[in-house]
Amino acid sequence: MGWWKETIEIVKKNDPAARNSLEIILTYPGIKALAAHRLSHFLWQHGFKLLARMHSQFWRFWTQIEIHPGAEIAEGVFIDHGSGLVGETAIVEKGVMLYHGVTLGGTGKDVGKRHPTVREGALVSAHAQVIGPIEIGKNAKVGAAAVVVSDVPADVTVVGVPAKVVRVHGKKDETIIHDMEENREYYTSKLEEARYQSLHSSKL
Ligand SMILES: CC(C)(COP(=O)(O)OP(=O)(O)OC[C@H]1O[C@@H](n2cnc3c(N)ncnc32)[C@H](O)[C@@H]1OP(=O)(O)O)[C@@H](O)C(=O)NCCC(=O)NCCS
Repeated sequence: MGWWKETIEIVKKNDPAARNSLEIILTYPGIKALAAHRLSHFLWQHGFKLLARMHSQFWRFWTQIEIHPGAEIAEGVFIDHGSGLVGETAIVEKGVMLYHGVTLGGTGKDVGKRHPTVREGALVSAHAQVIGPIEIGKNAKVGAAAVVVSDVPADVTVVGVPAKVVRVHGKKDETIIHDMEENREYYTSKLEEARYQSLHSSKL
């Protein structure tokens, strides 16, 4: 299936307000931003970095969605409504749904891979802020206005600030949720330690 056809099908599947293909192409900023990103990303990968950034900024103006040309976005992604931001080293896999106001951003403290990876089929709800080189697992759900600062396992729902697991496979099993949260805290603290050490050693 071609990129346009697949993208239009995803919109029809996920948005009951979508009436027909022409309307989707003409009125959905997410479609325009993603189509433009394909060219920006091509330019970026072929060394035309300034042109790529100018192209991406031009489409940011028209769509209110800023996607850095370096970001890797698979086919079948749906950005609904717009006004979001996707950072340079973000990776967004197939079938991901990003609602308005979502940020896939950096902490300002990391180097190299600084932005999130969103795995296949994940849903990131309106105004969620996903920050740092973390991973949103396959088919995970991030609640509206959540602030996610550590990895989210596959098939769970996280909500709140900072985002915590509230459902696993759609179920509220307190024991599993508690264990999962403990693991997330453990790995987050280890990551913080490693980050501190690498910053400290680079200044020696
Ligand atoms: C997170 C979400 C996707 C639901 O996922 P779900 O796995 O079906 O989770 P549930 O609805 O069963 O909610 C789980 C718990 O989180 C709470 N919750 C859900 N969304 C929340 C949010 N955004 N912030 C805080 N708590 C939230 C629920 O009240 C429930 O609490 P409980 O454990 O005390 O009962 C959904 O609630 C959400 O945020 N949707 C917004 C989608 C969006 O952006 N729409 C814009 C369209 S224009």
